Amino acid sequence: MERKEMKERIGKLSEELAQHNHRYYVLAAPAISDHEFDLKLKELERLEKEFPEFASPNSPTQRVGGDITKGFPTVAHKYPMLSLGNTYSREEVADFVARVEKSVGTTTYSMELKYDGVAISLTYMNGELVRGVTRGDGEKGEEITANIRTIKTIPLKLQGSGWPEEMEVRGEVIFTKDRFDELNRQRAEEGEDLYANPRNTAAGSLKQQDPKEVAKRGLDNFIYSVQSDASITRSHFENLAHGRSWGFKTPDPERRFIERAASVESIMAFIDHWEKHRNELEMIIDGVVIKVDDLLVQEELGNTAKGPRWAVAYKYAPEQALTRLRGVTFQVGRTGAVTPVAELDPVVLAGTTVKRASLFNADQLERLDLHDGDMVMVEKAGEIIPQVVGVDPTKRPVGAKRVVLPETCPECGTVLQRVEGEAQHYCPNENGCPPQITRRIEHFVSRRAMNIDGLGAETVEEFFRAGLIRDAADLYDLTEKQILDLGKGWKEKSAKKVIDGLMASRQVPFEQVLFALGIRHVGETVAKKIARTTGGLDRILAMSREELTAIDEVGEVIAGSIMDFMAVEANRSMVERLRSHGLSMVAEDTGKPALSERLKGLSFVVSGVFRNFSRDGIKEAIERNGGKVSGSISSKTSYLVAGSDMGPAKRAKAEDLKVPVIDEDELTRMINE
Ligand code: IVH
Repeated sequence: MERKEMKERIGKLSEELAQHNHRYYVLAAPAISDHEFDLKLKELERLEKEFPEFASPNSPTQRVGGDITKGFPTVAHKYPMLSLGNTYSREEVADFVARVEKSVGTTTYSMELKYDGVAISLTYMNGELVRGVTRGDGEKGEEITANIRTIKTIPLKLQGSGWPEEMEVRGEVIFTKDRFDELNRQRAEEGEDLYANPRNTAAGSLKQQDPKEVAKRGLDNFIYSVQSDASITRSHFENLAHGRSWGFKTPDPERRFIERAASVESIMAFIDHWEKHRNELEMIIDGVVIKVDDLLVQEELGNTAKGPRWAVAYKYAPEQALTRLRGVTFQVGRTGAVTPVAELDPVVLAGTTVKRASLFNADQLERLDLHDGDMVMVEKAGEIIPQVVGVDPTKRPVGAKRVVLPETCPECGTVLQRVEGEAQHYCPNENGCPPQITRRIEHFVSRRAMNIDGLGAETVEEFFRAGLIRDAADLYDLTEKQILDLGKGWKEKSAKKVIDGLMASRQVPFEQVLFALGIRHVGETVAKKIARTTGGLDRILAMSREELTAIDEVGEVIAGSIMDFMAVEANRSMVERLRSHGLSMVAEDTGKPALSERLKGLSFVVSGVFRNFSRDGIKEAIERNGGKVSGSISSKTSYLVAGSDMGPAKRAKAEDLKVPVIDEDELTRMINE
């Protein structure tokens, strides 16, 4: 294809993909299958790599994360980002209306939800996102554009028409409740501490240095203002409606996420409605915001030092409840992490009955100065995980004992340890502590791991108690007769299902087997990466820590965790027994063994067209000889391998960062000499 055609193809694909993204994420009405989308995205990725000069920073490929950012520059906001006066009382809302109307006469209000997330400001020039900035101190914020680009509900290029040449769009970056739960589920699976609440996690996510990391988190947003020096309409409500037509995720009037009102009564009705229904929303709101709708009237009212005179936030009281602490139990997880859990007199909170609440770790116990039988205040952190937020010491039973983390494991008696820099205490007796063993086996059989039909947490527990299994490999020695001999409702059919499920699990690909082993920090994505890079277990066993860290996405912590796991004789023998039972220990796709380690420790970026290799072929040659291939040039890149047709931008960047540029013949020499 001609270069001109390439440029056109890139433009067309980008546009199509942006439309599909919008349909999928904002409108929830996809028009093509995920597979078709992926194929188009892959094509665009390939073309952009070949013709980087035609790749736009707002290409849909940037949704998965661009280059690493080193620190975030501070930039001034064009319009200051004010904050709102908060009120918890309806009288104050009525006072606000009275104040406004005394000054400007009767007027109309726009009422919206107050999303509990992180404020951001987005600048668009000629319909393209050029800058994303945090609120900071309201005057200046941090520029986090690359991270913002990964949020799929934020348009990178605007749709439709009528947008001003330059405009600033503001909104709140949030996690939906589902996404937050999913993130924590993944964290638990990887043996990581759980995130406490969606708002802080959203804030932390936006400050990640690696946009690819941000992309994985799955942030979302709601837009609450559209501003420009050029006039859009006179109405805030209408401006948001325009925003919707340009592709933004603005509040949906049909769901009553935004509504206009002309009286205090209508405002109160809106407050009432969301007080009752806010727990049903997919995201967390902590109140509603009432704004004067007419932008000229807003201007007339102006601001005080504290915030605008034209808006007020009515906050719902955080849902809290006072209840008695019956006791504290200490749970031991799969990785040996010990978590104190408050056992409470049941109490209704945000629509559900709460009986237990996490106390996180020893530091939290100390902070709360918790005693047995205390009256405690429970709150739903972002309405998701119940948490003990306070204690009433005046109601403390006489002689009550202070709650402290035990020194030894409540399950097996081993002295607990605390890794420096981590809040959690761990029981180090991984192969002798019953809950660690059973939870590891539960993880092993779980759907995303070995996906064994007929085996769940209860069955694993039952087999373990009966002495039938001590590790995951023992499962494969089980016989139908052993299961039937347990009695307790086991029938031939259910026993056979377990055995068949185990048989079938021999087909599970190595990357899932690796994940199923439950090595700390080795989640699904990392397991996949390691499996595909190494080709299989034997290579992993032979690798040094340095070689492991050369794998994309594997850092010191993960490498250390793998080394530690494999250093334990019981683990190694279990893995060998799994192998002898026929579980896959070789990666399917890239089952090709490594050829040499000549490129060990070197990182390459490949660009352009080659004579002797296809693009995938040259990458494979590098990886099979121990090198690492990365998509973009950074100061860590060892060499840029340039083919013909490489764009000038790549070469300039390489020169800038003093990265040597080599051709394919030089690469071949490095491999063969
Ligand atoms: S309007 C000058 N609308 O609440 C008023 N803010 O204290 C600008 N927020 O920092 C804000 N939902 O991050 C507005 N629908 C909404 C909002 C909202 C959440 C946040 C925003 C702001 C804070 C105000």
